[in-house]
Amino acid sequence: MAAFSRRLTFSLVLLFLFLSFTEAKEFLVGGKTDAWKIPSSESDSLNKWAEISRFRIGDSLVWKYDGGKDSVLQVTKEAYGSCNTSNSIAEYKDGSTKVKLEKSGPFYFISGAEGHCEQGQKLIVVVLSPRHRYTGITPAPSPAEIEGPAIAPTSSATGLKAGFLVTLGVLVFGLF
Ligand SMILES: *[C@@H]1O[C@H](CO)[C@@H](O)[C@H](O)[C@H]1NC(C)=O
Repeated sequence: MAAFSRRLTFSLVLLFLFLSFTEAKEFLVGGKTDAWKIPSSESDSLNKWAEISRFRIGDSLVWKYDGGKDSVLQVTKEAYGSCNTSNSIAEYKDGSTKVKLEKSGPFYFISGAEGHCEQGQKLIVVVLSPRHRYTGITPAPSPAEIEGPAIAPTSSATGLKAGFLVTLGVLVFGLF
């Protein structure tokens, strides 16, 4: 019985790991609830946080802030660069904002509060294109590998399928 439940636990852990690599994620901007504010230093900036995160199509960004004092504006690259709040693509000021990342490429956000963007309360999120989706689990290829002729463009999809079959196999054989 103990062996069975150990195997069951192991199978569930594997299944969870598999799902966590493929399911859409929700990212709390800045990694904590009070992060949508003027950064205290360059190293504290939201773009530092964004650089170490991997965003994929279907993931969502979530902001928590005081809706009476601040807002989130999705803007163009130009408006981001000049902190122009007058013509945003979308404006959110409900204090709990969720934006789904529907396509690959850069997304630009600035604070709608007077003077905040100029002081660094801004965020660029770059969503990876689908063919880069699973680079998170495989190490980055070395330059030699990139130049080599052997890498097929479908390798990551094949790897994923193999991973799924292994997980399924472990589940089935682990249980019975
Ligand atoms: C902000 O953008 C709007 C619309 O693109 C433009 O008309 C306006 O001149 C800009 N304001 C500044 C200060 O650049």
